[in-house]
This record gives sequence, C-alpha cells and structure tokens, in this order.
Amino acid sequence: MTERINRQWLLARRPVGMVSASDFEFKQEPVPELADGQYLVRNLYISLDPTMRGWMEDRESYMPPVSIGEVMRCSAVGQVIESRNPAFVEGDIVSGLLGMQEYAVAGQGFIHGAPVPDGMPLTWPLGVAGLTGMTAYFGLLELGKPVPGETVLVSGAAGATGSVAAQIAKLEGCRVVGIAGGPEKCSLLTDEFGLDGAIDYKADDVEQRIKELCPDGVNVYFDNVGGSILEAALANLAKGARVVLCGGISGYSEKVPPPGPRNLMNLVMQRSRMEGFIIIDYVARFPEAAAKLAKWVGEGKIVHREDVQEGIENAPETFLRLFRGQNIGKQLLKVGEAT
Ligand SMILES: NC(=O)c1ccc[n+]([C@@H]2O[C@H](COP(=O)([O-])OP(=O)(O)OC[C@H]3O[C@@H](n4cnc5c(N)ncnc54)[C@H](OP(=O)(O)O)[C@@H]3O)[C@@H](O)[C@H]2O)c1
Repeated sequence: MTERINRQWLLARRPVGMVSASDFEFKQEPVPELADGQYLVRNLYISLDPTMRGWMEDRESYMPPVSIGEVMRCSAVGQVIESRNPAFVEGDIVSGLLGMQEYAVAGQGFIHGAPVPDGMPLTWPLGVAGLTGMTAYFGLLELGKPVPGETVLVSGAAGATGSVAAQIAKLEGCRVVGIAGGPEKCSLLTDEFGLDGAIDYKADDVEQRIKELCPDGVNVYFDNVGGSILEAALANLAKGARVVLCGGISGYSEKVPPPGPRNLMNLVMQRSRMEGFIIIDYVARFPEAAAKLAKWVGEGKIVHREDVQEGIENAPETFLRLFRGQNIGKQLLKVGEAT
C-alpha cells in the first residue's frame, strides 16, 4: 500500500490583533500506524468557527489553548478508513474535533468521532444540526425565553448561528429584526430568512434604526458580536428584556479588549437580565436539539445557508473569511470525498 501523506495546518504563532494566514504553518507528514483503540478518519468537511481564534491565544477558556506546533483544533466530519477500535468500522461517518488536516488519528486526547445519524447530509453536523444550530437553539430558547408577540433582535444575523436563532424566534411567533453587514446580507435576512426587518450596521445608525424597527423596545437580544452593536441594543431594551451573550466577534481581533458597554445601567432601569453561555454545557441535550433542527430544515421551516470553500491548502484563508464578513451562513471547507 502506498504511504498516506497527511497535509495539515499547525499553529505557527499566537496572532496579535487580526489573525493572518502566516499564523499557521503547512506541514506534510506520513500518517502514523494506529495503536489499539485508535481509528483513522479521512476528513471530508472542516468547520471554521470564530471560537478557534480564542483557542489560538495563550489563555485557558472553556478549553485549553492550542500549543504552538500543534495541529490547529477544529471540528470536522469525516469517514473512518481504518480502525483498531471495535466501536468504529470502515465507512462510518463521524464528527468531532478532528483538526485542520486531511487525516485524523482518532481515539486520543480531544480527537474523537461521534457517529453522524444515517442519511443526514454531511455538512449538517457542523452547522445547522451541529454546534452553531444548537447554539442558536439553546441560547434563544433557554436563555432568551421568547414569548409569542415579543420583539427579538439578533446580531450576526446572516451567519451560521444568528440566522438560525432568528428563524427559531420567528417559529416561536416573535417579530424579529436582524443586524448584518452590507445590503446583500440584509436582503437575505428579510427575503430568504423571513425576518421582519434588517439593519446594515456598516451603513446605518444602528441605535436609531433599532429604535425605529423596535418601537416597543427589544424583549430578547441575541448577541453574536458585542461592542458598539451590543451597546446600541442595550439602549433599546424593553422592560424585563433578556440579553443572550452568545459571542463577541467584534472584539476577538482587538489587541486590547475594548471597555464594556457604557450603558449597563439600562439593565437596571429596564429590570433586564444579561447572561452568557457555552454550548457544551448542553451536551446531554444535543440529540434533542439536533433532531428538532434537522426536522425544521427538512420541513422548510428553517432555511440554512452554507459557504463551502475547497481544498485543505485554503484552510487559513477560509478561516479569515469569518473575520472579514465574507461568509454567508456556515463557513465550511471541503477537503475530501466520501467513498
Ligand atoms: N456561546 C457559544 O457556545 C457559541 C457557540 C458557537 C458560536 N458562538 C459565537 O457566535 C458568534 C457567531 O458564530 P458563527 O460560527 O455563527 O459565525 P458566523 O456568524 O457564521 O460568522 C461570523 C460573522 O461575524 C460577523 N463579523 C465579523 N467581524 C465583525 C465585526 N467586527 N462586527 C460585527 N460583526 C462581525 C460577520 O458577519 P457580517 O458580515 O454581518 O459582519 C461574519 O460573517 C461568534 O461570536 C461565536 O464566537 C458562541
């Protein structure tokens, strides 16, 4: 058998400010022999997620940092092509933290595969029925607790998480306004995702537009971006509002984190609550959420978009698309073909 060569991306250095392709190093090395309990996965789709930016920093968060010289951690879906683990057989489709590479030796450290339900499209476990969809599901329903007739505001609304959160809020009978960058994304929010209003944060006075589009105030704000957009949302809270802190991508590339919102006192005045969460806390309920999301997509109740780039050599550039706002929907990279 010819030797398999693994093309992989390692973390070369810790980024300062905006991440760049030169923060990664390309490496090719033979795939090692499997030990007992291990199985070899050929990656098919790699998921690019903003949280990976945090893993590149030398700081503990909900997961340890990626070490310099280590394969960049990321989620992927792949196919088992060799196994010395009785729970996995050749041909199985699995998802997990398989890394920014073509082959993953799974069954060690953080590298494990969870079976993908039969018949589910290969990309869904990374997006709409995976971590981003489930983040939208639990964040909105468990923390936001939307009530029919309420107004829900979502930032990052054309992205993987935001687009699903906004559409779940519509399914819950709410009026939903989305915030995104640029006219193309804003048209998508109203024309394709069915939202009631859209705000282009790159062109509009965000605080003023929220006031116009949410005249009775915002009951639930699902925040993916933080910064000045969070501040504009806090300025427009209805009494008893719930602010769901999902992410703060506007600050991920800042060398020095900007000071927090200046108007936190609005939470006091409006008797409101602001709460953050990390999706892995809901792991026991993942099957419930994945099944519900897949059903909604199957029934056409949730429209989801994917931005699929190709080729392992393009992994760092594909990751950068998230921070440049180039992706519409879930950012993925296709690196292999299932057999
Ligand atoms: N809490 C959790 O467990 C959890 C889990 C998953 C994701 N998240 C968070 O959810 C958020 C969305 O993640 P995702 O995977 O769904 O990514 P995404 O929304 O599909 O992609 C990122 C989007 O962020 C927007 N963006 C980039 N820079 C920005 C800036 N400076 N200001 C405002 N918007 C900016 C861009 O959209 P525009 O073109 O509209 O700017 C870009 O398309 C992230 O903050 C992520 O960290 C949290």
